[in-house]
Amino acid sequence: MVLPALGVIAVWGVLPAVVAAGSPASDVQVDRALRSSLGAVVCVDRYAAEIGAEILAEGGNAVDAAVAVGFALAVTHPAAGNIGGGGFLLVHSPGGVARAFDYRETAPAAATAEMFLGPDGEIDPEKAGIGHWVVGVPGTVAGLAEAHRQLGSLPWARLVQPARRLAEEGIEVDLDLAMGLEQHADLLRRYPGSARSFLHEDGTPYREGETWRQPELARVLGWIEADGAKAFYEGPVAELLDAEMRRAKALLTASDLKSYRVIVREPLRFAYRDHEVLSMPPPSSGGVALAQILGLVERLAPEADRLDVPATRHALAEAQRRAFADRARHLGDPEASEIDVQRLISSDHLDRMAATFDPQRATDSETLGPPLTVLEGSHTTHFSVVDAGQMAVANTYTLEESFGSKVVAEGTGFLLNNELHDFNLKPGLTDRKGRIGTDPNLARPGHRPLSSMTPTIVLEQDRPVLVTGSPGGRTIINTVACVLLRVLRCGQPLEEAVAAPRQHHQWFPQRLSLEAGSGPDLSQALEALGHRVVVLKSQGDAHSLGRMPDGSWQAVADRRLDGWAAAPTAVRAPPAGGR
Ligand code: DON
Repeated sequence: MVLPALGVIAVWGVLPAVVAAGSPASDVQVDRALRSSLGAVVCVDRYAAEIGAEILAEGGNAVDAAVAVGFALAVTHPAAGNIGGGGFLLVHSPGGVARAFDYRETAPAAATAEMFLGPDGEIDPEKAGIGHWVVGVPGTVAGLAEAHRQLGSLPWARLVQPARRLAEEGIEVDLDLAMGLEQHADLLRRYPGSARSFLHEDGTPYREGETWRQPELARVLGWIEADGAKAFYEGPVAELLDAEMRRAKALLTASDLKSYRVIVREPLRFAYRDHEVLSMPPPSSGGVALAQILGLVERLAPEADRLDVPATRHALAEAQRRAFADRARHLGDPEASEIDVQRLISSDHLDRMAATFDPQRATDSETLGPPLTVLEGSHTTHFSVVDAGQMAVANTYTLEESFGSKVVAEGTGFLLNNELHDFNLKPGLTDRKGRIGTDPNLARPGHRPLSSMTPTIVLEQDRPVLVTGSPGGRTIINTVACVLLRVLRCGQPLEEAVAAPRQHHQWFPQRLSLEAGSGPDLSQALEALGHRVVVLKSQGDAHSLGRMPDGSWQAVADRRLDGWAAAPTAVRAPPAGGR
């Protein structure tokens, strides 16, 4: 049985047909939401969505398309799309192969737990915010290359080429990009490489409607197209990055780049109602927290089949509060400390977490332990892909904050991340202002900072039926939980579930954020239960795919930014299904 919840949709365009191998690649359909039986791509940007769909039209599989989309977003969506950052690519392919490619950034060999402190022993904003010091070893190029090596089917160069061309020929700056550049122009101006890439010669940012060419990035993508990840980690890109870091007297070295490794992990799996959910294990907190939140809502509101009523929202807030308390206490890089994931998502543990729930009253977070929160940045991006052979990819990647460290190394044209900022900044310092100093997430050489990214694939009888994920720092986990609850539990159609208001609680600060549109009655009812409610303008950006009863897929772009869906209207040959 496929998801009954996905039953009601509009159909855009005519359902496509498979055409013979060898005939020219056909057009793709592009819309905010669409339906396709030949696979689909959904992401934050129209150029990248179309590129992914063209790869599917050529007979590429979902991993091929994801690689092409990943590179394209590095050109068109520089706030978060990247080759200078890292992320997680979760794939499920026919025959049951499921892999979680962990290409999270790592701390350089010279990193220490005290690296963010000044001589006075306090957190030094110059070391812990933006700039060269907080740059983790980028994982994106290695991650995409490894996923392609294991599961891709089209030649590598074909997948990098569209991004290289976009960088060479230029893209039209849209409102979102123009606003981002305007907002970050002062910080980008600090670094010569960044100013050259993102600003006019007179120092003003590119404006909406202008054509923006990125020749240095095109050159780097050309090297990667020709020589693969080696060009990045051992070749000319590594040399340029090493030179930049030496000039800045920062930590990252050529040797850090050379020793970077992707880790292929077993996805975190848990049962939810009639489904099996695959999500990201540590060093992401996403999968564990998602399993806990869904499991707790089952316990705290067993009857509820509607999310937008006070009792269910209260149960969800309390589930979120408890999951975030556990997240801070237990999660980090599994290399750093033993993390008993199975215990954390076990029924016994969830029963214990549920025991303190009061249906009439918000729990005081202090009773769950001392405050242990961490500040996180404000940009990341998620895309979902499925192909005609039912291979599915959920990919979330990031530079950490919007435009990352703001540093473009001279001659490279791409932004570097500030992901080390996701480590706990001062050992032992845990306070109500949002600092966390616990051990599992301290900076150590080669280790990966704790993440909230939650790329997720839901299976029904071993076949994918829902693919989703989101940006938004810690809110990511709660955005994904809201989408899953709405579709799998409340039976809402995917389009409605993606558009509907979300909520976020993260234990500390003791605040329940309701997304605008949740309605004053809901706010008042939750306040009456003791929650301190704030209204958040927007939460997340969950580009999602859902399988329809007839086996086709509905692609739904989240409209909170400027999402697009694209799908082939015919394919040259069905995808080979991976290597
Ligand atoms: O890995 C993480 O959880 C964060 N670095 C992600 C940052 C983020 O999502 C900001 N987004 N809008």
